[in-house]
Amino acid sequence: MTGETNGLRSRAWFGATGRTGMAHRSWMRNQGFGQEVFDGRPVIGIATTWSELAPCNAHLHRVAEAVKRGVWQAGGFPLEFPALALGESLLRPTAMFYRNLLAMEAEEMMRANPLDGTVLLSGCDKTTPGLLMAAASVDLPSVMVTGGPMLNGKYRGQDVGSGTHVWKFEEDLKTGKMTQEECYFAEGCMARSNGHCMTMGTASTMACVAEALGMQLPGSASWPAVDARRYEIAQEAGRRIVGMVEEDLRPSRILTREAFENAIRANAAIGGSTNAIVHLLALARRLGVQLDLADFDGLARPVPTLVNLMPSGKYLMEDFCYAGGLPVVLRQLAEAGLLHSEQITVTGKAIADNNAQAECFNREVITTIEEPFQAAGTGTAVLSGNLAPNGAVIKQSAVSPHLLKHEGRALVFDSPEDYHAVSEDPDMDVDETDVLVIRYAGPKGYPGMPEVSNVPLPTKLLKAGVTDMVRVCDGRMSGTAYGTVVLHVSPEAAVGGPLALVQTGDRITLDVPARSISVDVSEEELDRRRAAWRAPEQKYKSGYAWLYTTHVTQAHEGVDFDFLTGSRGHEVPRESH
Ligand code: FES
Ligand code: MG
Repeated sequence: MTGETNGLRSRAWFGATGRTGMAHRSWMRNQGFGQEVFDGRPVIGIATTWSELAPCNAHLHRVAEAVKRGVWQAGGFPLEFPALALGESLLRPTAMFYRNLLAMEAEEMMRANPLDGTVLLSGCDKTTPGLLMAAASVDLPSVMVTGGPMLNGKYRGQDVGSGTHVWKFEEDLKTGKMTQEECYFAEGCMARSNGHCMTMGTASTMACVAEALGMQLPGSASWPAVDARRYEIAQEAGRRIVGMVEEDLRPSRILTREAFENAIRANAAIGGSTNAIVHLLALARRLGVQLDLADFDGLARPVPTLVNLMPSGKYLMEDFCYAGGLPVVLRQLAEAGLLHSEQITVTGKAIADNNAQAECFNREVITTIEEPFQAAGTGTAVLSGNLAPNGAVIKQSAVSPHLLKHEGRALVFDSPEDYHAVSEDPDMDVDETDVLVIRYAGPKGYPGMPEVSNVPLPTKLLKAGVTDMVRVCDGRMSGTAYGTVVLHVSPEAAVGGPLALVQTGDRITLDVPARSISVDVSEEELDRRRAAWRAPEQKYKSGYAWLYTTHVTQAHEGVDFDFLTGSRGHEVPRESH
């Protein structure tokens, strides 16, 4: 079919005659492909965020093989290509610093190559939003396949949750309940198979969010990474993307305002990570969908938490999968009128139709709406007030009930390091009513808005049996963590937000029911302090860190780069040779 175009964009490369077509085809044939793969079949790019440095994604080559089988079966031509692999556990200063870089490079590679559709292979926290943002800005038919969670951690007969138990083990180590030797052993028990974190942390949350947005196949979020059905569903996604290309079913048709509303409600029902907020805000802006921080509070309020998973609850992703997984949650939301049922998904069908047959096999893990795990209105709340004029968030299910309304003395630290330098001092001037302020940890300030907000309590208080304190920060918190932590304070301290003006000794009031976070300092006094405030010096004069700190947006805007907002489509008018 050389010389014919048949409407597929890949034909501009592989269908070309003469010297350019020869160049495009000939070099591909060094991989052993015969002439027949250029017969006009859709070319499917499989973007893999595989890397041995991103352990949660280290098995994605195997997932890609399953996707390829499906693509061949449906008559497509699959080609796997690398996308920036971002692992939470190793990357400094934080994987979030590179999410936009992944989104930017994957977008460019999807557009620059002869692709008609893409399959997005992700797993670890930032890889799912990064690839979705890329796909949204290119707008070629795309389906996501997340790599699946690890098997439940098991230590001394107990379920151990990734992330969540790191904080617990650290506290046990500090208070002498565990030895260092026991901790070394427990590390291996926590991560005992391929896959991403199996708590309802950010990776599991974003996998569920991708499914609720309609971007991955029903049930795909929860099959464990090592379950044979993970590979079965990956193969099905490979078949399906070929159909999506024929139907021209692009992200812009799937990712509408209604899809985002579905994702926000699903996130509330699963007790998902606060990180979903920044990722969804960024994704929406790629598509020109109007979405604000306040929407997360308003849309989530009528939704009870149905899923009893760590860190807010007891179980893990393997249990969620065996209980029926996200399809059960989506069916229940649809039947309660809490879902836009008609919203189209990658299956080509409406979300409610996809999940109409879903059955629950364990009501301890996925509760009913009538008798929920946690009542409606107790999920992630959006706060505002003179300390966070553009908003802040708090995960209520991770909060100690006695701190939902609290007033206390501010103890201010200009970095997490400043806090850590004194937090183990037995004479530290602190009590459990104080409010720890950790600042300059936002998008520009750190840089990268890392997950440092839930600093451990001062050792002195831990030893006295204190389990929680109010903390306020312009950074993020791991989705696997817990505690009364006000997050994502916007504007951040580094751009002169009011958080930068607080002083030790000021009184801070947190009132979650009233959705407010404020400091008891008059406007005049804040103005006086603002006039005296000096912005931190720009440390980075060149390189990616310069690009990042110059162009990153604030938490309430999604922490994307200002120049990446919007969709740029997939046209490349000019030849390379
Ligand atoms: Fe990769 Fe948690 S560290 S998913
Ligand atoms: Mg995480």
